[in-house]
Amino acid sequence: MKDVYILAIETSCDETSIAIVKNGNECVYMNVLTQMDTHANFGGVVPEIASRMHTENITMVLEDVLSKSNIKIDQINAIAVTYAPGLMGSLLVGVEFAKTLAYLWDKPLIPVNHMAGHIYANNLTNKLTFPLLAIVVSGGHTNLIMMEDDYKFSVIGSTLDDAIGEAYDKVARVLGVKYPGGPNVEKLAKDGQPTYNLGTIKTSGYDMSYSGLKSSVINLVHNEKQRGNEINKNDLACSFQTIAVGQIVQKTKKAIKEFQIKNIIVAGGVSANNYLRNEISKLCDEYNVNLSIPEFKYCTDNAAMIGAAAYPLFINKKFSDFSLNASSSDEIF
Ligand code: KG4
Ligand code: ZN
Repeated sequence: MKDVYILAIETSCDETSIAIVKNGNECVYMNVLTQMDTHANFGGVVPEIASRMHTENITMVLEDVLSKSNIKIDQINAIAVTYAPGLMGSLLVGVEFAKTLAYLWDKPLIPVNHMAGHIYANNLTNKLTFPLLAIVVSGGHTNLIMMEDDYKFSVIGSTLDDAIGEAYDKVARVLGVKYPGGPNVEKLAKDGQPTYNLGTIKTSGYDMSYSGLKSSVINLVHNEKQRGNEINKNDLACSFQTIAVGQIVQKTKKAIKEFQIKNIIVAGGVSANNYLRNEISKLCDEYNVNLSIPEFKYCTDNAAMIGAAAYPLFINKKFSDFSLNASSSDEIF
């Protein structure tokens, strides 16, 4: 079969990214323009500013990709775009841009779910081997998902309340560290010890929970402040991270034993966390499970993962017409 080149677009949050992906497993060229510094001034992503910045930047990002990738428009087989879930205004910029390119260049249009993108980011490093267990950890998701085949998702566990990334971000705020919260809490935790007692999380089966842990951190900080005591931020970040990641490890271990899992992948923004990567890696070594985690640059939001997730859809001709719309909450799991 001839090589397939997909031009992929991701604008679901605060990264404007376009990539060209070959055969779903090789990123030929990618540009990720992050708005992080702008949103850091506000302590989090401001949706209105995010969509305006995507509009300002997306054409420049495309120009860069077309001039540096050495791929001609004639060689591109399809245009893929994240249509959901995410910030509505941000998604709309990408979707309308993708529709325009598909129309102008007469290419098929492939709508891609952002969470599928995070999962298929693994194909850019190691090809997915089915059946597998996907650990999906991001700002909006904390799921354990069995996959029997491409796009066959069966959720065995999810959070009952907050997502793990959301908890990292809230803890960052209460510790007074800058946006983006997750990586900065990880940095603090690196030089700390898990000395604070934040209680234990009690959930049954494969359910998970983060709101109690988050509240424990918030209450502890407030109480210590009222007493005029100093908080050791490194130790508190480390205590939080140990429990937050520990819960994922514990539920994954249960799944490995119950379902005789042989392949595990990790997906989503929190998969960039080194402590989580190491803990899951130790667990997989212990139980002789094959583990795949995307390279750092493919863990956080990027267009290459959208091109990777679009490939099986291209093969199965899952194209959309120009009525494609963005959706803030279209869940595929
Ligand atoms: O997957 P993602 O880019 O957004 C969604 O699709 O939801 O993940 C963003 C989340 C944020 O909550 C961010 O704080 C978290 O991933 N994150 C991290 C790290 N890098 C990103 N959390 C912990 N440690 C990190 N190194
Ligand atoms: Zn994401």
